[in-house]
Amino acid sequence: MSKKVASLENISKTYGKEDLTVKALDSVNLEIYKGDYLAVMGASGSGKSTAMNIIGCLDRPSAGIYKLNGIPIENLSDDELAEIRNQKLGFVFQQFHLLSDATALENVTLPMIYAGIESDQRLERGKNALKKVGLAERMNNRPNQLSGGQQQRVAIARAIINNPAILLADEPTGALDSKTTEELSSILSNSEVNFEIEKIERILDSKSKSMNKN
Ligand SMILES: Nc1ncnc2c1ncn2[C@@H]1O[C@H](COP(=O)(O)OP(=O)(O)OP(=O)(O)O)[C@@H](O)[C@H]1O
Ligand SMILES: [Mg+2]
Repeated sequence: MSKKVASLENISKTYGKEDLTVKALDSVNLEIYKGDYLAVMGASGSGKSTAMNIIGCLDRPSAGIYKLNGIPIENLSDDELAEIRNQKLGFVFQQFHLLSDATALENVTLPMIYAGIESDQRLERGKNALKKVGLAERMNNRPNQLSGGQQQRVAIARAIINNPAILLADEPTGALDSKTTEELSSILSNSEVNFEIEKIERILDSKSKSMNKN
């Protein structure tokens, strides 16, 4: 059986305070195995983005346990979570979140700066990723000089640039016509994402060892 990469155990998320609370997630259970290709479906406001943000370590649950490779993320510091997000998780946001003053190529290469990859390699990998999503001719355009679908492709290229162990995409084709949706879905499913979880294991193993020492 393949290895369990992530699990949500009775995860709840409540936003707001006192009378104004919204329970976005109520005891959600989910197990994600290596190689899984999962889709989360539900009405607008049903909590899909909330769940994705927790799975992507962008937010912490109000209750329940979220584990990556068997380790509860509540045991990880903000710095360790940031390292995991940068190196192991790829995220395509519902609203793209591209930097408006940066070109397509600069947007795509940014995660590699945080990952400490040297400049020549950043440029080469960034150009290849943009070619892969069909944007070879638009690398030096800023987001406001690109169509919605082209911006979404830049966001996908940025999400896959560090070969993430887990790729999360929040309605990556939500606002697109069906032909572009088909093209982008095939880019996502053929994105050569490296589902090897060796490196995430290394970060989490060193964490569990130091936890055992304490
Ligand atoms: N930061 C927040 N503060 C307060 N309430 C929030 C916040 N974020 C989301 N919510 C509420 O939590 C619920 C779930 O929102 P969420 O964005 O997860 O839904 P969704 O399924 O992704 O919807 P959509 O399909 O429209 O993107 C909604 O009722 C929303 O209004
Ligand atoms: Mg959403």
